[in-house]
Amino acid sequence: MNKIIQKRVNGLKGEITIPSDKSISHRSIMFSSLAKGRSVIHNFSNGADCRSTKKLFEQLGIEITQTGEKSYEVFSNGHFNTPISDLDCGNSGTTMRLCLGILASQNFDSVLFGDESLSKRPMKRVITPLELMGAKIESNEYKAPLHIYGRELHGIEYNSPIASAQVKSCILLAGLNATGKTTVIEPYTSRNHTELMLKYMGANITWDNNSVSIEKSSLEPKVINIAGDISSAAYFIVGALIVPNSEIIIKNVGLNPTRTGILDVVQRMGGNLEILSQEEISGELVGDIKISYSELKGCTISGEDIPRLIDELPVIALLATQAEGQTIVSNAEDLRKKESDRITTIVNGLKSLGAEIEEKEDGFIINGKTELLGDKTLEVFHDHRLAMTYYTAGLICKKDIMINGFEWINISFPEFEELFNNL
Ligand code: S3P
Repeated sequence: MNKIIQKRVNGLKGEITIPSDKSISHRSIMFSSLAKGRSVIHNFSNGADCRSTKKLFEQLGIEITQTGEKSYEVFSNGHFNTPISDLDCGNSGTTMRLCLGILASQNFDSVLFGDESLSKRPMKRVITPLELMGAKIESNEYKAPLHIYGRELHGIEYNSPIASAQVKSCILLAGLNATGKTTVIEPYTSRNHTELMLKYMGANITWDNNSVSIEKSSLEPKVINIAGDISSAAYFIVGALIVPNSEIIIKNVGLNPTRTGILDVVQRMGGNLEILSQEEISGELVGDIKISYSELKGCTISGEDIPRLIDELPVIALLATQAEGQTIVSNAEDLRKKESDRITTIVNGLKSLGAEIEEKEDGFIINGKTELLGDKTLEVFHDHRLAMTYYTAGLICKKDIMINGFEWINISFPEFEELFNNL
């Protein structure tokens, strides 16, 4: 689907409520499926990725009943139905990598597959530690489809070479059903939704700095209220900062410190951002944010910042084109392994609009502030975050832009355009 975006003549004004966090939604279905009994989930994501997870667990015999617009009841008798056919993860890396950890220790075999984009993404990062735990997995040169020969696993201490919540969660979920203790040590702390939710559901899990340990545990069914997604809020945060005369309030945003890197960057850049309120819901911090148009300055983003804002980097690149001076993003080489090679795709996309942005092996350098001229068609390469970043860019481009593949927003955020239209 092609979408034409016009420059905003008025500022963004008003209040919006951000829909459900994708990472937490995935985990709510997965962990409720592992808990014997009836769990309740409120504010589950409408995105296609989370629907892939829901469908996969239904295929495994879990009863999932919709009880409200975004509410579900999950009933599990504590084990999965077998035999099962192939399990489709769609476009979702989180579904594939976390389910691999769950399925590797079951007493049956299974196959995980995905769409064209997911079938190109690296799985060695999760297969290697699972093999160290005793798993048997056949793959297409460490890519999907993944044939899992379920068997009993044993705990390991694993020093992960990358800070990745998907890798950490995969190992922890295998550890949840393995003999002995499983420990994952990361170079920097990645998002900790798995740890928080497993703890909330009664697992024997502890953490300290960048190290997390788990022992075989059974989970208790719970009521899980899912926070709004800060990665979705990011487009509105950036929109309000770069469209003159904007001032908006974003409600119900997840403020888990392992995800709030973008808020730190906005502060470093001198943006007007205020956290209005904060509370804890189902083990996660949630709050409201006020944000307005700002004169920004460039900053550096590297090291431990990266896992705390990895999914926001495309839209942060756009933000940096509107900041005076240089913004340097480094140590972000994992961006090349996302739904598209997000270093190359975002650099080429923003450059075509008139930005001064230079590609580096592990990130990019942006010199601002530049006027974005537009008058271009941009490809999204099956990548939802590019589609939403380009839409946000279109709000300040001098001339209209066209986005080719705009429908990819449905992967994480079907309500995206409607919410922008409300401002
Ligand atoms: C996710 C972790 C991140 C992120 C992805 C969701 C998760 O991936 O990019 O969108 O839910 O665990 P990595 O762990 O590969 O960095």
